Amino acid sequence: MTTLAIIGGTGLSQLAALNITRHETVNTPYGNPSADFIIGEIQNKRVIFLARHGNPHAIPPHKINYRANIWALKHLGVKDIIAVAAVGGITTKMTPAHLAIPDQIIDYTYSREHTFFDGNDGNVIHIDFTYPYSQKLRAGLITAAASVNLQVSPIATYGCTQGPRLETAAEIARMERDGCDIVGMTGMPEATLAKELGMDYAALAVMANWGAGKTDGEITMAEIEENLHHGMANAAVLLQTFVAAY
Ligand code: HPA
Repeated sequence: MTTLAIIGGTGLSQLAALNITRHETVNTPYGNPSADFIIGEIQNKRVIFLARHGNPHAIPPHKINYRANIWALKHLGVKDIIAVAAVGGITTKMTPAHLAIPDQIIDYTYSREHTFFDGNDGNVIHIDFTYPYSQKLRAGLITAAASVNLQVSPIATYGCTQGPRLETAAEIARMERDGCDIVGMTGMPEATLAKELGMDYAALAVMANWGAGKTDGEITMAEIEENLHHGMANAAVLLQTFVAAY
């Protein structure tokens, strides 16, 4: 049986629809994952949930142990991962609380443990990363959204920044010139690591705010929380619909 995992980001630290059967702690060669894995069922489909920022939410994006999280999911038998992420919107369709299913990534992060293939065992391995997200899972999310009349952007380029600070206006303008539609801090190296271990991975991005310089004034945590409140409610409906059809 293919096992599905959902990684929850800011604004999604638990899944209300999940009938929890057990919690599991996994020790990994890379240290501790963000939290215990919550294992349960949604409409009789087995789902493993992980709160990326810990439970309670306390791990900033640059300190997440991405290798431990992905290694542990593989160890638990996971084949497919849906990664939920709060992001900033850059291009016009990416309005607050809107959902997007990105198809491409540009990586602006640095100093993160970003590979399982670090060469320490004498092996040099370069994975193909032309299409960083699983087309199968992306198609499933897009179909699920359509079936419940949820507006989603089915294509978007996700620019991943280091954080934890938000970007400058000039950085967002540069990212737009680069072709980024959305900006987040957790998409990398998570997507790479999943691919290195042969797992299918797709992201569901929820707009928390306009990127820096796209509106007058500063970006506030209050605005982010308000938008995520709406956006994550829609994301939860989409996830439930996706799982039911999985
Ligand atoms: N930038 C980077 N990451 C984010 C943002 C943003 O504006 N909003 C939510 N996550």
